[in-house]
Amino acid sequence: MKVAVFSSKPYDEKYICQANSIHEITFFEPHLNSKTVALASGYEAVCCFVNDSLDSDTLVALKNAGISLVTMRCAGFNNVDLQAAESCGITVCRVPEYSPHAVAEHALALILSLNRSIHRAYNRVRENDYSLNGLLGFDMYNKTVGVIGTGKIGATFARIMQGLGCKVFAYDPFKNPEVEKLGIEYLPIEKIWSESDILSLHCPLVPATRHLINSNSIGQMKKGVMLINTSRGGLIDTRAVIDALKQKHIGYLGLDVYEEESELFFDDNSNHLLLDDVFARLKTFNNVIITGHQAFFTEEALSAIASATIQNIDNFASGKLDDIHLVKSK
Ligand code: NAI
Repeated sequence: MKVAVFSSKPYDEKYICQANSIHEITFFEPHLNSKTVALASGYEAVCCFVNDSLDSDTLVALKNAGISLVTMRCAGFNNVDLQAAESCGITVCRVPEYSPHAVAEHALALILSLNRSIHRAYNRVRENDYSLNGLLGFDMYNKTVGVIGTGKIGATFARIMQGLGCKVFAYDPFKNPEVEKLGIEYLPIEKIWSESDILSLHCPLVPATRHLINSNSIGQMKKGVMLINTSRGGLIDTRAVIDALKQKHIGYLGLDVYEEESELFFDDNSNHLLLDDVFARLKTFNNVIITGHQAFFTEEALSAIASATIQNIDNFASGKLDDIHLVKSK
């Protein structure tokens, strides 16, 4: 098939080219949206990532350009209007699982860095400042960790935290038997808010989970709670979180995703002014660590994403629709 890859970076090109032998693939750096959709003309499929905007206008334009397949090289698909895709007759597929370890281990990296102030210690040592004041951490052992969403990543994360001797509780509308086998108890969400020393989000962004973390849920949390989000930015009402940081209700915040990240992440913006005042405020707290959507970014994950994406395209091209990871609106 003739495939246009959007939001492409050199690492995407490297791994996709390694996995591909038969398709004619062109790599475009811009995000796919209603302004850039003309680039897709002459292709049969587009391959997209988390910050491409596949809204109704873009999908209609894709259909008119002759596109029949949108293949997402990620697990989340909250940026695709699935109903519009269906009415355009465009098939949407994704990579449901590539490396749950990559994301779960990144969540752990954020937790340990925040707890032991590694980001601050790194800077102090560079400045010949070996004072410890302000760097006091806590033992992870015996702390209570609440896991919201126990699919592939949440389950992997829960197992890791058990390994540190934490008490792990979970919330998910659909219980995962693998997680129950670990002896992890599912609790109502209110209990998770009130019991957890550390909260980690691993559920998808859907209408029911948008701003799951808001002033009401924060109000039910322990004072000084650590909040980790490696899932999707929209799960958090960022302004409410900033207020809670100012009141010291949230004691630590680790983010790999941000509500308005599409204008910021994955690009070198160091020569531009930062115009997002909310994000700018977030960056001023010394108990906040932000990474730019890099939790998935391991060699193993990139290789698995590329092979699964090419497999999806192969199967679509040969009419094996049952064998591709379809995403449907219902
Ligand atoms: P998954 O589909 O295996 O698991 C998601 C779980 O969330 C399911 O068990 C589901 O029942 C649960 N869930 C649904 N609605 C919920 C709700 N209202 N409250 C609590 N749980 C709910 O997905 P997976 O692979 O574990 O990924 C989780 C999320 O991680 C993805 O949706 C994606 O947004 C994010 N992600 C982030 C990456 C990064 O680089 N930062 C990379 C890959 C995924």
